[in-house]
Formats: sequence, structure tokens, C-alpha cells
Amino acid sequence: MDGNKPKKSCKVSDEELKRQKEYTALVGSVITSRFSDRPLAFVHTYGCQGNVSDGERIKGILETLGYGFTENIEEASLILYNTCAIREHAEDRIYGNVGAIKKLKKQNPDLIIALCGCMMQQERVVEKIRKSYPFVDLVFGTHVIHKLPELMYRVLCTGKRVFECPDGDGVIAENLPVHRDGVIKGWLPIMYGCNNFCSYCIVPYVKGRERSREPEDIIAEAKELIAMGCKDITLLGQNVNSYGKNLDCDINFAKLLRQINDLEGDFIIRFMTSHPKDCSKELLDTMAECDKVAKHLHLPFQSGNNRVLEEMNRRYTREQYLELAEYARKVMPGLSMTSDVIVGFPGETYEEFKDTLTLIEKVQFTSLYTFIFSSRPGTKAAEMPDPISRDEKGRWFKELTDLQEKIAGERTAKMKDKIYTVLCEGYARDGILNGRTQGNVMIEFPEVEGRDVLGQFCEVKVTEPLTWIVRGELV
Ligand code: SAH
Ligand code: SF4
Ligand code: F3S
Repeated sequence: MDGNKPKKSCKVSDEELKRQKEYTALVGSVITSRFSDRPLAFVHTYGCQGNVSDGERIKGILETLGYGFTENIEEASLILYNTCAIREHAEDRIYGNVGAIKKLKKQNPDLIIALCGCMMQQERVVEKIRKSYPFVDLVFGTHVIHKLPELMYRVLCTGKRVFECPDGDGVIAENLPVHRDGVIKGWLPIMYGCNNFCSYCIVPYVKGRERSREPEDIIAEAKELIAMGCKDITLLGQNVNSYGKNLDCDINFAKLLRQINDLEGDFIIRFMTSHPKDCSKELLDTMAECDKVAKHLHLPFQSGNNRVLEEMNRRYTREQYLELAEYARKVMPGLSMTSDVIVGFPGETYEEFKDTLTLIEKVQFTSLYTFIFSSRPGTKAAEMPDPISRDEKGRWFKELTDLQEKIAGERTAKMKDKIYTVLCEGYARDGILNGRTQGNVMIEFPEVEGRDVLGQFCEVKVTEPLTWIVRGELV
């Protein structure tokens, strides 16, 4: 549980990957003998972008095993939920979904039901699935995604339930196949796990120790994305600012960012998440200097009160956060900042919560991801006295979201008549396209006959600012 360097041997060996390839061939032949048409998998991922990226690798493996994909759960031969454990609500939703598919299994006993992801890395959850959900066939944890061919082989050929959720520091599996959900935007994991143990957070317990991918592997994947036509690459990690700490080579996040910025092509680079304790001025200067890096900084502050921050084990102060924000805006005028906030941490008083409000007023965020504290068994905060009622926390939460709504409205109002470079991502509805500014504000604009801008950067003039999105027209 300490924050020591994980061993370099966290990379899955070539022999193991070869073994999994052999299982892939075996499963492939089982599938062709059992199904006349290509079987379909319904795969749904919950949680953060890191989990979505894991989901794309899981889908990549399933594809090599012979599965196609469907959004219609009723026609699936395999249902897989890649779960999230960040808050109680996320877990409850999974239990609800899994309960609801029991009837599908009754109609089709050959249906395979699989659960993976962060929830399955917790013993109490695995026990509950074992006892109360006997129709679930396969349960696997976050450290064995690369073993999916072998696990599927065991499910298909033994007919027995398979549980594979080993504890551990975690691995890095390179060269897994990837089935990407879209072409225009791409997720690029640069590191896995977390060593920070913020007292409220389950992530370090379910995703293992912090481990960085080798820069060459990341650059190779970035090139692949660019060659595919990807225009918006998001570098992913729980704390990208500590990228490279476990590697032997001379690299850190700022240097990696520069290397990706130097790649040829027309694309923008985003990243998340940055932890304020490791957010260096070198990184902010690098962001300012790199033309392809979006001028958007997602920097979660969680609370504006120093006592609460200390209890959260965040290891920075309100003053340090404000100084960083000020420096970032100095080197990048017009920078868009977003953040995460927790309301009602155990023992937080209303007076302390007001420090969160004043921090929000000071920094003027574009948008906020706001959460009411959710107790996660096994974390330190779960043991802390928590006297404030849920209703009271709900009132604080409303006060916070009202304030942010006012700030967001004022900020978008200032966008009127200005022209922004926007990556057109798709259709909001019939005839209306949408995309995001570099600062991550959603813009909707009518399509213009004869101009095919889908998947392209284009100039859009804001005509009608709303609170969270703006409307505009192509220039
Ligand atoms: N690694 C990122 C955050 C990942 S979790 C970081 O440190 O910034 C995403 C967000 O979920 C967190 O920033 C936090 O605001 C929220 N969160 C995490 N655990 C929570 C809990 N137990 N209750 C409520 N919100 C939580
Ligand atoms: Fe959780 Fe903190 Fe790690 Fe973020 S940095 S994943 S909040 S423990
Ligand atoms: Fe959820 Fe796991 Fe991400 S707990 S937020 S899916 S790291």
C-alpha cells in the first residue's frame, strides 16, 4: 500500500501474450463450430475514460475471438458489463442491470453473462455475485484483461462459472487489439493505477499501483491514431503529472507532451487527469508552448478548505491551488479550466464548504463535475464520523451547482459573436452538427449544403450562448 516504485516487470511477458494467442485460436474454432452466424456481444462500460479505454481493448479481444457487436441486448450471445466502483450509485446501477438480464438467460441458457472492471476487484462484490447472481458466468478483475481469451475458453468449454480476480499491483499489457468506438476522437492511456490514496477514493485499491507505459509504446499508438484520422487525442491516467516516475528513461509528462505535439498531423491533444500536487510550472509552460495542446486544463481541487484537503490526503493547499490556476492563466490567457468537487466530505462543516464556493468564484471554471461524498468500504474516509445528513448535503450541493450555473452562463455570454475553431464531432440532431471548442464548450451549428465538415476542424461563430452549450454558425 505504500507509494513505492512498482517493479519494471509489470509488463505482461511475450510468452504470456503468445499463450493467449493460442487460446484465441482455440476459442475461434469453438465459436465457428457452435454458431452458424457470427455471434454478437453487447458490451457496456461505466465510469471514467480510463475504463472506456479498457473497454475498447476488451472489445478488441472479443473481436479477435470471433464476436461482432450489438447495441440490442436481446440479440446478444454475450453480455459484458465493464463496471465502475467510484460511488455507491455506480455499483447499485450494475446490480440493477444484472438483475434485469436474468430473464434473458432463462430464455437462452447459452447466453454468456460476464462482469469485469473496478467493482470486480472488491471481495465483497465478488462474493455477492457468487451467491446472489448464480446466472453470471464470468467475473474477472482489472489485472487480467489480457487473459480474456483463456477465460472465455474456460467458460465455453467447461460450462462452469469462472472467477478470476487476483489482487496485485497490476500489469501493463502492450499490443492488445483495440476496437475503437470512434475515429475522430481517441483515448490513449499513458499510465495505469494510482498511488495517491486520497482518503475517499477506491481507485488505488481496484486499479493497482501507478505504472507508466514506455514512451515508445505511447508514441507508436499516437501515430496509429493519427494515421487512422483521429483529430482529438486524449492522454489518460489517474494522475498524468506523475507520468514516468517508475521508468528508467529520462522522461516526464511535460516531455512526453512535447514529443506527441511534435508528431506530424492535424490534431489536438488533451489530457486527464492532472493532480494539483504534481502539476508543475514546467507542464503549464509546455502546454502554453505546444500549439497542438488544447488550452484546457482539468485540474480537480475537490475542496477549497485546507483542513478538509488535509483530511482528504490531497497534499496541496487552497493557496497552492490558486497560485497554480493564476500561473496557468498568466501563461495561457483565455485558458479554460474545469474541475471535480466533492460536497459533504465526512466532518465538513458549512463554514468549510463555503471555502469551496469562494474558490469557485475566484477561479471561474468553465464547468465542474460535482459529487456528493459517497462512502466506499475499505477507504479511510469510510471510517470517519459523518454527522451531516444527506438532505443537508443536498442543499449545499444545490448552492454549489447554482453558483456554477451562474458562472458558466456569464462565461458563455462572453463568447457571443466570437469565432472558435471547432472539431466537428457529429450530429446533435437532424441537420444540426456539434463539436467542442478547445476549452471543451459544446457548440451546435446547422450544417451547410455543400460543406462536409464532419470530422474536420472548422470555424464557427457563436450566435446564441446558452448556459452549458452555445449555438453558432459556420463561418
Ligand atoms: N484521479 C482523478 C480522479 C478520479 S475519480 C483525480 O485525482 O483528480 C473522479 C472524481 O470522482 C474525483 O475527482 C472525485 O471528485 C470523485 N470521487 C472519487 N471518489 C469519490 C467518493 N467516494 N465520493 C464522491 N466522489 C468521489
Ligand atoms: Fe482517487 Fe486521488 Fe488517485 Fe484521483 S489521485 S484516483 S482521487 S486516489
Ligand atoms: Fe470508476 Fe474505476 Fe474509473 S472506479 S472512475 S472506472 S478507475
